Amino acid sequence: MKAKIVVNLHYFIGDIDNRIYGSFIEHVGRAVYGGIYEPTHSTADENGFRQDVMEMVKQIGVPIIRYPGGNFLSGYNWMDGIGDKAKRPQRLDLAWRAIETNQVGIDEFQEWAKRVGSQVMMAVNLGTGTPQEAQNLVEYCNSNTGTYYAELRKKNGFEDPFAIKTWCLGNEMDGDWQIGHKTAEEYGRIAQETAKLMKWVDPSIELVVCGSSDYRRKTFGEWELTVLEHTYDYVDYVSLHQYYGNKMKNTADFLGKSVHMDSFIKSVVAICDAVKAKKHSKKTINLSFDEWNVWFHTHGESYEDWQVAPAILEDIYTFEDALLVGCMLMTLQNNCDRVKMACLAQLVNVIAPIMTENNGRTWAQTIFYPYMYASVYGKGRVVKPIVDCGAYETSDGLVVPYLETSVILNQDERQLIVFAVNRSLEEDMMLDFTAQGCDGLQLKKHIELYCDDLKATNSADKQVVAPCEKEITDVLSLRKHSWNMLIYKY
Ligand code: AHR
Repeated sequence: MKAKIVVNLHYFIGDIDNRIYGSFIEHVGRAVYGGIYEPTHSTADENGFRQDVMEMVKQIGVPIIRYPGGNFLSGYNWMDGIGDKAKRPQRLDLAWRAIETNQVGIDEFQEWAKRVGSQVMMAVNLGTGTPQEAQNLVEYCNSNTGTYYAELRKKNGFEDPFAIKTWCLGNEMDGDWQIGHKTAEEYGRIAQETAKLMKWVDPSIELVVCGSSDYRRKTFGEWELTVLEHTYDYVDYVSLHQYYGNKMKNTADFLGKSVHMDSFIKSVVAICDAVKAKKHSKKTINLSFDEWNVWFHTHGESYEDWQVAPAILEDIYTFEDALLVGCMLMTLQNNCDRVKMACLAQLVNVIAPIMTENNGRTWAQTIFYPYMYASVYGKGRVVKPIVDCGAYETSDGLVVPYLETSVILNQDERQLIVFAVNRSLEEDMMLDFTAQGCDGLQLKKHIELYCDDLKATNSADKQVVAPCEKEITDVLSLRKHSWNMLIYKY
């Protein structure tokens, strides 16, 4: 099979906001306890954080991390997680039917985030929480006003404000599984009032309002329109959440899901702009795709109620999952004109690229690799690829090109980085890449993620799915069902 990509450096989609390579740590399963935090671990630092995990997070270079949830957020009182650890209450976490010890809260998490070089994307509880609790949390984190919560932070040992810039107004409030679930009208109103108070405390913060938790929900569209009617003037981003799976064991359909993701993004952009037009507003609302991933291997798992850090949602990812994650990252890059933040959900142990053993080793899942390469190399300007290749139709009528690609210009390094997945399950692809306006273009590096077995997985003992550097030859070939990164110099 043959495919052709043509780019012209003057035709571009936009400049990448590195925050599209963000991730997510929720108080669920072993993400926090046994994941990032384990004081008994041999690598634990003075705060109880596992340094082996920190090293892996740094290897990816995660620019922003959403915290503390997720479904957990909607029943969480942030005051439980600050100050003297010995005095913090244990609570029932109704979202995950677990016990929350509160040994990690915002005091610790912002410190951890600093150590791994990430910003915090903080979320406020709008399930059981109130606008005033959100206001107080902004004061606690960001103020130096000599007032109660700002002083409380100092008393807890943090003289300088945490300076958290990005804040989410609740989590998945459209979902009936959510603690304190609301109609669009109810949520729109409370989000608007909460946004006002939070920005009155700190006008420099940016706010993300909840969009739909899945494109396929009946309320999609109507939800965004109603919520933005109320909040347009007060918020900066609307959120999107989407997970995909391969329950039907149809790999061709599964690999086409990023095309679905693309139309989700474009639909939300259209809704934001419709509200903008209706309101005669000059302001543009951008998108925060703050939960996305493959998630289905652990669906329907059963576990015992009321445990501390139960090992739940620990999907073990296959090679084909890594191919779709690679395609989804390209979709985010190719929509960088409007998607300014995105969070791979999640980061450690829970539907995650990084896994840990309790008091033991860490290891990289298959999805770690496309994520890490996108985050490290996918920086700069996304140019518009004109792609000529074959396509196939999925069982639900979606037309999917065999080649998924994104092309990123890094002017400082005089480099073009091409990410490419050959979705064909049978044929290799001869790729012809032309970059108009680039003299002396030369392919310098070709990294490939390939495995003959689409269902292959990694473990602490064996990295079956791992990238390799390919020899550069005259003919560029992308193997059947492979993920690739090509670095061209000009
Ligand atoms: O990431 C796991 C869960 O998925 C989150 O808690 C929730 O927001 C979503 O439904």
